[in-house]
Amino acid sequence: MTAASLVARCVHGLEPTVAAEILRRGLGTITHIGHREVHFRASRALALNIRTADDVFLLAAQGPDVGASRQGVAALAELADAADLAALARLRRDHGGPGALTGVEVSASFLGRRNFTRYDVEDAIGYALAARLGVGYHSRRGGAAPPPGHSGWRVTLDGERATLLLRIAARPLHRRAYKRRSIPGTLHPPLAAAMVAMAGIEPGDTVVDPCCGAGTLLIEAARQQPGARLYGFDLSERAVTAARENAAELPVCVARADAGRLPVPDGGADRVLANPPWGGQVSFGGLLAASAARWWAEVRRVLAPGGTAVVLLPGVGELPIGIRHGLTPVHLQRVRLAGAESFLVRWTAPR
Ligand SMILES: C[S@@+](CC[C@H](N)C(=O)[O-])C[C@H]1O[C@@H](n2cnc3c(N)ncnc32)[C@H](O)[C@@H]1O
Repeated sequence: MTAASLVARCVHGLEPTVAAEILRRGLGTITHIGHREVHFRASRALALNIRTADDVFLLAAQGPDVGASRQGVAALAELADAADLAALARLRRDHGGPGALTGVEVSASFLGRRNFTRYDVEDAIGYALAARLGVGYHSRRGGAAPPPGHSGWRVTLDGERATLLLRIAARPLHRRAYKRRSIPGTLHPPLAAAMVAMAGIEPGDTVVDPCCGAGTLLIEAARQQPGARLYGFDLSERAVTAARENAAELPVCVARADAGRLPVPDGGADRVLANPPWGGQVSFGGLLAASAARWWAEVRRVLAPGGTAVVLLPGVGELPIGIRHGLTPVHLQRVRLAGAESFLVRWTAPR
């Protein structure tokens, strides 16, 4: 199979995690790491297995960034002219995507202030691509979702370069097929996958998510480490039902319990994975409504000596509380998702 230039797009802050996953799993060789993207070369059709990326694309064409002025937008159509569409269709199929390019939809983003909108960019390129392919173009300007089967193109302007990408899969990779049920505050699956990777779960490890919601962390853990024993708890019956349904075909045990009093023996968890309800879309209920500090005490109690917890924090203000409960933060990674900053923190319990 011909080697292809691929681009994995990701949550800002996860670029090193995505690069590490590509290298660790032998999926390709890294050629460039930029804002929310990792460029790599791959000659095997494995890119669609990357779990920490939002999506994976073929690099279709690159040119200079057109700057801030509205007049520059028309020049972006040259990217569409430069793309080798027959080769891209072949590579997309070789790497596990659909064969024919039967319609076009484009999603654009740029860094910095511009005197044009993303829709101006999308339409400039979309109409040019559709004309070359002799297929229909779906503009996102009206707000309607693109019809199924359209090829997904992406344009980024990063201040230096304009880049045109073609999505390999029929739909974005971050939309996991297992997520049949959702709940408020449910975790973005690639972020959950990054937390699982950070936890370094070994075969046979007991992994606990004290506030499992729809089960995203445990399902991603099952995919990365099928030999782990996975237990999820949540106060909400709706969340428990959602997690059970989402994890249906996986060995994940889910039960209704309060994270302030987990049905787990002292030192019974080798790993804790958690995205607790810090008061954004969801708040602590039950025993933790009065004192969220008790959450840390319970995590400390269930963690085995030398055990690891990976916790998503809304800010560094929670760090001293975890430390006061005897845990040591050993790795901290800042991420930015949908405009909000969060921190992935790996903690260890004393031996
Ligand atoms: C941010 S959500 C977790 C989302 C989850 N990681 C997912 O991907 O769907 C927080 C969860 O904590 C649960 N929760 C709130 N208070 C709790 C408590 N005292 N014990 C257990 N779960 C609690 C909520 O019901 C909610 O499902």
